[in-house]
Amino acid sequence: MTITRTCTLSFPVILSLASLAAAEIRFTEVRSDGRPIIPFDEFGFTHSGRLELNVSHISFSFAVPDSKLGKLGFFLCTRDSWFQVLKQLEDAEISCTLQSDLIKKVFTFDKFQGDRSTVNVVFPQIDSDQYTLVFANCLQNPQQPLELTMDVRSAMYNLDGKSGRRDYLSAGRTVLPRIYFLFFLIYFALAFLWNHVLYKKRLTVYKIHFFMLAVVILKGLNLLCEAEDKSYIKRTGSAHGWDVLFYIFSFLKGIMLFTLIVLIGTGWSFLKPYLQGKEKKVLMTVIPLQVVANIAQVVVDENGPFGQDEIAWKQVFLLVDVVCCCAVLFPIVWSIKNLREAARTNGKAAVNLMKLTLFRQYYIVVICYIYFTRVVVFALETITSYNYLWTSVVAAELATLAFYIFTGYKFMPEAQNPYFAIDDEEEEAAALRL
Ligand SMILES: *[C@@H]1O[C@H](CO)[C@@H](O)[C@H](O)[C@H]1NC(C)=O
Repeated sequence: MTITRTCTLSFPVILSLASLAAAEIRFTEVRSDGRPIIPFDEFGFTHSGRLELNVSHISFSFAVPDSKLGKLGFFLCTRDSWFQVLKQLEDAEISCTLQSDLIKKVFTFDKFQGDRSTVNVVFPQIDSDQYTLVFANCLQNPQQPLELTMDVRSAMYNLDGKSGRRDYLSAGRTVLPRIYFLFFLIYFALAFLWNHVLYKKRLTVYKIHFFMLAVVILKGLNLLCEAEDKSYIKRTGSAHGWDVLFYIFSFLKGIMLFTLIVLIGTGWSFLKPYLQGKEKKVLMTVIPLQVVANIAQVVVDENGPFGQDEIAWKQVFLLVDVVCCCAVLFPIVWSIKNLREAARTNGKAAVNLMKLTLFRQYYIVVICYIYFTRVVVFALETITSYNYLWTSVVAAELATLAFYIFTGYKFMPEAQNPYFAIDDEEEEAAALRL
């Protein structure tokens, strides 16, 4: 009964994080752990998948009689069958997860041969699906719960059809290096194009336009590192290719993008050459928060989907992200308000109406961008089947690309500045519309 309850409580939390699906070779140290269920990692297998499990330094908090060793062991389980296993436990059809026929037993501790402190198995996993590697401890006597200590190395990979090479990226992620590289090429082209625009319109270029160029270049470099990082994981199962570079560029890109949205929102450098006190305060809030968000992201990435404190860091990241997203909207709202007031007082209605329309559009586009990349992408990740996980990445990158292009197009340096070239007729029409 206790087992059932604990499992029912812990697994929804685990499942809610499941979409992270990292897939490197993982080393996990289990120390005096009495949990009935210990999840390790998850992976989308194709029909030529393998699980390599090496466990060493196994020790128990008290000696376990041989007859009970079968109640300890590793198994693979899909999300769907996990719910059925829980039902079986609830209906008392089985008393231990390992007795269910819906799971795939990888190794139970009654299979030891000789040495009882190490396990080395290669488990061929030929049913293509997303599986979670879990350890079950069914010796949950309330007076004397068994605590385990062990070092677990788990490597899950698919074998490539023709070459037979190992692919450590989960089935839905194996195309990611190529996708990131493709987007890198697109941003590279964009940076080139923007450079060309800046050169052609060099007489009307403001500082903000160079800032935009820097943001596009950083975004491109970030994608290049992500492509290399993912391709390194794919080949070796280890995340230490260009990951440090990737984190650095993500960090810079995050800060610069939010700063850019704030600067455009305030109208800096093309409406006015200075920042007001409250606008500076927004920047001073957003930048440190981005630092925190990036640290949280690194911790989440490095520890895998079931690492300790994973949930706490994930929440920190979400919270900080939401605060940043709200903060960047303030300057745009202030600008809209200022423009509306200015239009009433100084009589340049048409000029201000144009600016106002531009800022209103920008406000809506920023909201859509934030909503899409946070909420829609998350929903996509949750509902798509494990082997189409890359679609959510493509959706997020396309939305980001559209946002960059919109921003560049709307705030392009203009040879004929539209803000000042307006005749009297338009002026009157605008005054009426305001
Ligand atoms: C893990 O176990 C497998 C199967 O026995 C073995 O081939 C492999 O070399 C082991 N790996 C390590 C790092 O011990």
